Amino acid sequence: MTTRAPTGTVLLTGATGHVGTSLLPRLLAEPDTRVLALVRAKDDAHLLERRDALRARVPGVDPSRLDVVRGDVSAPGLGLSDGDRDRVDAEVTSLIHSAASVRFDMPQEKAAGENIDSTRAMLALARRLADRGRLLRHDHVSTAYVAGDRAGRVLETEADVGQGFRNSYEWSKCQAEGHVRAAIAEGLPVAIHRPSIIVGDSETGATESFNVLYWPLMLYARGWWRLFPGRADTLVDIVPVDFVADALVALRRTPATIGSCFHLTAGDDAPRVDALGARFAELLDRPPLRTIDPDFYLRWVRPVIRRPLSLTKRGRRILRGGSAYLPYFRGNPLFDTTNLRLHLGRGAPSVFDYVERIARYAKEKDFGGR
Ligand SMILES: NC(=O)c1ccc[n+]([C@@H]2O[C@H](COP(=O)([O-])OP(=O)(O)OC[C@H]3O[C@@H](n4cnc5c(N)ncnc54)[C@H](OP(=O)(O)O)[C@@H]3O)[C@@H](O)[C@H]2O)c1
Repeated sequence: MTTRAPTGTVLLTGATGHVGTSLLPRLLAEPDTRVLALVRAKDDAHLLERRDALRARVPGVDPSRLDVVRGDVSAPGLGLSDGDRDRVDAEVTSLIHSAASVRFDMPQEKAAGENIDSTRAMLALARRLADRGRLLRHDHVSTAYVAGDRAGRVLETEADVGQGFRNSYEWSKCQAEGHVRAAIAEGLPVAIHRPSIIVGDSETGATESFNVLYWPLMLYARGWWRLFPGRADTLVDIVPVDFVADALVALRRTPATIGSCFHLTAGDDAPRVDALGARFAELLDRPPLRTIDPDFYLRWVRPVIRRPLSLTKRGRRILRGGSAYLPYFRGNPLFDTTNLRLHLGRGAPSVFDYVERIARYAKEKDFGGR
């Protein structure tokens, strides 16, 4: 099987994000690869500031191998100036689309602009480069949660099977994937990568963002909340960001991955709420986690505590976070990793091998000071 990174310049969106910052050093470790990062900036000075911040993340790499163009993936033509568009057309040979708005509470229209229009604009660019004979491949970062409210085992070959969605984010990412799959059917060389819940680095615990899993963890660590609305047997599929970045970069080296979709997930090894909760109780030195059936909580408990909670800032934060993240502890499918294991030769590391570093880092950083 061939494993060689696509040579030339990769246009990377989302370079400043949780996944993008982990992708950068791995992409630039390939001697023949240059990165052109499409970043948002309010003016030229801000753009250069962001470029220098990205270059500082890859010390020892010739700075000329990492440059930036100003853009906005949700804007027509990716928000590129005519000059930058010509530069992209002349230099870029592959694409990675990692930019997205990962908020769960966006109005549908906003989610569509951020996550669907941006995907379509990237596919339009891919088509233009392909028509010129320049495109080696395009890697699209999706999410395992395009599975929405499905239960049971979800395959990498499955996408929209009529499932419902728990928020506008899941919906918009699934719609976006629909466009990607149509482009693959047309013959564009695209691969789809679906991470589950991404946490910090498995070696250092470091994370750029304290979302999803970190939210209930923060409440629990601070002793703000004892009774956890979740089902003990719900699978919590988490993956460390270094695994996601390593896997994506490795899969990109293999032309046979074009046209396929990969669950970058723990899959069959995902822990249950009760097992993960017990480990966090030890690590955070807290009393054992007590779960409450989420349906019972929503029907009987939340209506009673809602009013007193909404009177304080902390209470309002708890209510807001609860609405956004509770569905992820109520029930989740199992994300099958057959295709990933076939092409990568391995799955994600065991959560219990690295979760201590995740908890320690989060505690040291006070959960991002939230
Ligand atoms: N984090 C997770 O748990 C998770 C799980 C599964 C899948 N994913 C997927 O992984 C990808 C990366 O997510 P992440 O965790 O790295 O998110 P993140 O940390 O929130 O970063 C988002 C990145 O996208 C950029 N971006 C957002 N809107 C943009 C726009 N309109 N134009 C240009 N750039 C824009 C942001 O730039 P700024 O710096 O300017 O804000 C940032 O670089 C996304 O596609 C997401 O759906 C994430």
